[in-house]
Amino acid sequence: MSATKPVSLLDKFGLEITPFSVSPDPKFLYQTPQHKRALGQIRFTVQDRQGLAVLYGDVGMGKSTLVRKLYDLYRGDNSHETVLLTNPDPTSALQLLKRITDACDLPRKRSRLDQMQELEAFLVERFRAGKNTVLLIDEAQLLRGEQFELIRQLTNFESSTSKLIQIVLAGQNNLRSKLRLKRALLSRAMTIMTLDPLTLDETQSMIEFRLSVAGRSAPLFETEAITAVYKLSKGIPREIIKLCRSALTMAAINDLDTVPDDVVGYSSDEN
Ligand SMILES: Nc1ncnc2c1ncn2[C@@H]1O[C@H](COP(=O)(O)OP(=O)(O)OP(=O)(O)O)[C@@H](O)[C@H]1O
Ligand SMILES: [Mg+2]
Repeated sequence: MSATKPVSLLDKFGLEITPFSVSPDPKFLYQTPQHKRALGQIRFTVQDRQGLAVLYGDVGMGKSTLVRKLYDLYRGDNSHETVLLTNPDPTSALQLLKRITDACDLPRKRSRLDQMQELEAFLVERFRAGKNTVLLIDEAQLLRGEQFELIRQLTNFESSTSKLIQIVLAGQNNLRSKLRLKRALLSRAMTIMTLDPLTLDETQSMIEFRLSVAGRSAPLFETEAITAVYKLSKGIPREIIKLCRSALTMAAINDLDTVPDDVVGYSSDEN
């Protein structure tokens, strides 16, 4: 009965946790200059109570991870009241409003007007208590016409000097075309940022960063392997992660100590 336990992939490569998961875990976020700029500008918009910031990015570019990073930053700070909507229900403006008021633990009202008044009273009370309310909406490309109008109305809630609620919209590139048609809302955005693909150097740093967060500091991917990942992924973070994950598995199956480029080529056929 004493079969030798196979060495796990994590043990084999000296890892404590899995380095290449596609979940948007902010502790794995490697901040390139564009991430630092986006985080800095969004945080400034919030801190200055300027009302609205928008983050665009193609599929898999890191929007959700960045939004969760912001959520963690504000949630851990008691001068902010933070609401995160990760998957807005596209049915109606009232539904969206109720998601927001539910998250703020406010009673439900029958009409949209009453519900808006309830929210405004809450925001005024938070403002007086010295708290800044932040609403983060991920997947904002799912929102529809009257919901954008609701968001515009929320940006109208203000004191004589500043906005009562700071809204961050993050969405895929079709959010850009939707917002182009909502000029009244778009013109209120103080910050508009786009996440672009990583460069080769950033791809290398991102891979090394994720490995170090997972517990491994010694080099694991050979230089040619990183170049292969970069070429195949075109610098798109989610593609980088998927390629690295399968390359690492292939390296383990072949009992290699480091990851060479030919397993990256191989794994890309598997993806
Ligand atoms: N700068 C980065 N550093 C480390 N990992 C990253 C970075 N950007 C993205 N990732 C990783 O890439 C994967 C995809 O990121 P994420 O889910 O945030 O993309 P997204 O832009 O929200 O995609 P979608 O448009 O499909 O919702 C996640 O595993 C995330 O951790
Ligand atoms: Mg996302």
